[in-house]
Amino acid sequence: MQKFTCYVVLLLFLLCFFQAFSWSQFNQGENYEGSSDLINLEYHMGPVLASAINLYIIWYGQWNPTHQATIRDFLDSFSSSSVPYPSVADWWDTVRLYTDQTGSNITATISISGEFYDSGYSHGVYLSRLSMQSIIKAAVTSHSRPLPLNPHNGLYLVLTSQDVQVEDFCRAVCGFHYFTFPILVGVTVPYAWVGYSGTQCPGMCAYPFAWPKYSGKPPPTGGNDITHAPNGDAGVDGMISVIAHELAEVSSNPLINAWYAGEDPTAPTEIADLCLGLYGSGGGGGYMGKVYKDAWGNGYNVHGVKGRRFLVQWVWNPVKRRCFGPNAMD
Ligand SMILES: *[C@@H]1O[C@H](CO)[C@@H](O)[C@H](O)[C@H]1NC(C)=O
Repeated sequence: MQKFTCYVVLLLFLLCFFQAFSWSQFNQGENYEGSSDLINLEYHMGPVLASAINLYIIWYGQWNPTHQATIRDFLDSFSSSSVPYPSVADWWDTVRLYTDQTGSNITATISISGEFYDSGYSHGVYLSRLSMQSIIKAAVTSHSRPLPLNPHNGLYLVLTSQDVQVEDFCRAVCGFHYFTFPILVGVTVPYAWVGYSGTQCPGMCAYPFAWPKYSGKPPPTGGNDITHAPNGDAGVDGMISVIAHELAEVSSNPLINAWYAGEDPTAPTEIADLCLGLYGSGGGGGYMGKVYKDAWGNGYNVHGVKGRRFLVQWVWNPVKRRCFGPNAMD
């Protein structure tokens, strides 16, 4: 659990009984770039995603094809070996340090194995957390081009378009992960949801590409953006980091009984929660840390396929016992 405001802490207690979720990107009250023995990240004996992951994307709502292409390229970068260092795959290497009780590491292989277009908003534009499971159910039972229901090594990623409101979205969360219930979907499979925040709350969920209005401080440059988005859209570039955050956490804690800190499994602090707002060395206290700038001055910290660049938050490295990313200077 992160310090945010009393309001959010209150929300936490009220809302988090059923689902694990992630705090916003702009939440820098605490982070742990320095090595720390205070962090009590523990393994609770459950599985991690050790088998090659078949990722199934559900595009919920009306999506801009340019935004979809950016997200696909990001996801295709996880297992690509032909990308210069530091790459998305190099970033994932930190996540791979987590193992299960058989000693198996989290997999290096994530492949997009199916995509489903729920462009007709099957469950409307106001979604509860639980309705994500019904959306997955609809996608795997659709008459036209259903996704496979893969309980062995499937991972479902529900991405909602800019006009869709989701319970807690923009208030407490930018994305979350959990697992399906057999009564709703037929099997237990891990899934994650991430929303497009570009129109609803970029200052909260697309930090550091948009300035948080409620931060109480003016933007440093007087403009609205603090770091320009490497793929040209603050909403999508912000979403990339939230997707990375959720993939790291769902892989290390898919059934909410593997890797997390804190005593309370209903409010676990997971491997990316520990490093919110940190993207490079020296980060913390509202500074994202040292990242690279491309020729246009856009910020990034990893390379991806097709010459893409992305900015993804760091995750907790269990060996170094600190937040870490491949762009670290030490
Ligand atoms: C697997 O995890 C262990 C423990 O963190 C680590 O020492 C090892 O390097 C990891 N292997 C890979 C391939 O990441």
